[in-house]
Amino acid sequence: MAKTYNWGIIGLGKIAHKFAQDLDTLPNARLQAVASRSEERAREFALQYGAPHAFGSYEEITACPGLDVVYIATPHPGHRDNTVMCLNAGIPVLCEKPFAMNSRQVREMVAAARASDTFLMEAIWTRFNPSTAKALELIGHGMIGDVLSVKADFGFRPLFDPDSRLFNHALGGGSLLDIGIYPVFLALLLLGKPAGIQAMAHIGATGVDEEVGMLFQYQNGQMAHLHASLRAFTKTEAFIYGERGAIHLHTRWHEPTSLSLILEDRRPQDYRFEYTTNGYSYEAEEVMHCLEHGLKESPLLPLSFSQDLMEVLDRVREIIGLQYPEDETG
Ligand SMILES: NC(=O)c1ccc[n+]([C@@H]2O[C@H](COP(=O)([O-])OP(=O)(O)OC[C@H]3O[C@@H](n4cnc5c(N)ncnc54)[C@H](OP(=O)(O)O)[C@@H]3O)[C@@H](O)[C@H]2O)c1
Repeated sequence: MAKTYNWGIIGLGKIAHKFAQDLDTLPNARLQAVASRSEERAREFALQYGAPHAFGSYEEITACPGLDVVYIATPHPGHRDNTVMCLNAGIPVLCEKPFAMNSRQVREMVAAARASDTFLMEAIWTRFNPSTAKALELIGHGMIGDVLSVKADFGFRPLFDPDSRLFNHALGGGSLLDIGIYPVFLALLLLGKPAGIQAMAHIGATGVDEEVGMLFQYQNGQMAHLHASLRAFTKTEAFIYGERGAIHLHTRWHEPTSLSLILEDRRPQDYRFEYTTNGYSYEAEEVMHCLEHGLKESPLLPLSFSQDLMEVLDRVREIIGLQYPEDETG
């Protein structure tokens, strides 16, 4: 009989709710424990999703019996410490994006995973969505020829709250790490690490990038045009241009219900995707698949990819002059 995986969640905010809802749809997943800074919030969350264990501190979850994997859903500055704490206790980890605040922290997380021989993956859910699989399949079958350029944006206009994690500098605020990471992810997935990077940003009142534009260049002339904004609702779509045609990932492209294959002289061919969950079930399934096979990282999203991704984000931050306290203190 297939094993049931007992999940834990650390940090019970917005995304934790969506993830818990999706876990509930998976027959081989069970929410076993939740951890919050507040015991009351932990108890409420546990009651809502039927988790048998609720902890009023993050540390306590590592001693929870029967835990197979923990999902980290705290703001970015907590990711490294929360992850390393679980890995050191021998508990596999799925950690939200961005994996950490900078590549030094990512290296520490990878080192902890290797030292404890424990599974670790960044929760870039878009990598596991059916739309990404279809786009890669079409490219793999040569439908658009070699990929020449990628164009992707991600923008929305949240209510300005200087204390919220989107705008608060101390909480890792800014568009790049929160949503700009998606266009950068797509460029890396399709074209790899760029040889040259240009970037410009608008730094807002709280000292974080409220808007960032990026241009990546590759050795053989490939390009990526990327944009993220916390100031405007942008179309949030992606285009992958090849020698013979293009793939259009419709809005919002990181979780689209359709994409079009556009070939010269032909009507666009649409592919549709039915989502029966919030879309986080696919990454959870990947984690359980890896654990089932004794893997310590996902072949679809290896740790080297997360390291490359963070190195590119570091470089963009260097160009736009955006530093966080962790860059000084580690
Ligand atoms: N994959 C996706 O689609 C997606 C979507 C949204 C967010 N995310 C990522 O998930 C992470 C959390 O985002 P979110 O939107 O869920 O944030 P959120 O609603 O603010 O929740 C974050 C939770 O982290 C805990 N926390 C620990 N230290 C905190 C602090 N100093 N200030 C505030 N909260 C703190 C809190 O839980 P307790 O009080 O229970 O400890 C809080 O509820 C971020 O890194 C973000 O990039 C991913």
